[in-house]
Amino acid sequence: MKNLLCFLILSTFFLGTMGRSCFPRTEYIVHVVNKIRPDAGPMFAHCASGDKELGNHTLYYNDDFNWSLCEGFLHRTLFFCRITWGSKSVSFDVYRSSDRGECLTDVCYWEARLDGIYFSVMHFLSLTYLML
Ligand SMILES: *[C@@H]1O[C@H](CO)[C@@H](O)[C@H](O)[C@H]1NC(C)=O
Ligand SMILES: *[C@@H]1O[C@H](CO)[C@@H](O)[C@H](O)[C@H]1NC(C)=O
Repeated sequence: MKNLLCFLILSTFFLGTMGRSCFPRTEYIVHVVNKIRPDAGPMFAHCASGDKELGNHTLYYNDDFNWSLCEGFLHRTLFFCRITWGSKSVSFDVYRSSDRGECLTDVCYWEARLDGIYFSVMHFLSLTYLML
């Protein structure tokens, strides 16, 4: 009877955490958003990590390319993106284990604007990389 109770408690616990695919690791969501200009052509976001190729995505104004990742136990996760818009292009790390603390509330938000790539900390956007 005691074993059955243990089993029920444990299954409830694991079923309850199933939706959170990273458990017990932390899940982060990375957003890459095109805010360049409503009337401008699309930008391309090609993102990858050492072992995950996320592909080259076409983003029109306001499009939000987002994905979730699980922070690894070894804390060596790194995702980078190349953003191309017309003749301009910029490559940068969108997620690094070493400074994941900057992705507050587990969301890493990047926004492309006319002058460059902005990163959001507590909903305050700051220009972080110039579009060259
Ligand atoms: C993504 O696709 C666009 C359009 O085909 C291309 O101009 C751009 O170079 C590609 N970027 C990467 C990193 O493959
Ligand atoms: C995240 O991406 C999905 C498509 O994969 C999109 O439908 C959704 O709107 C995006 N999230 C936000 C907050 O825009």
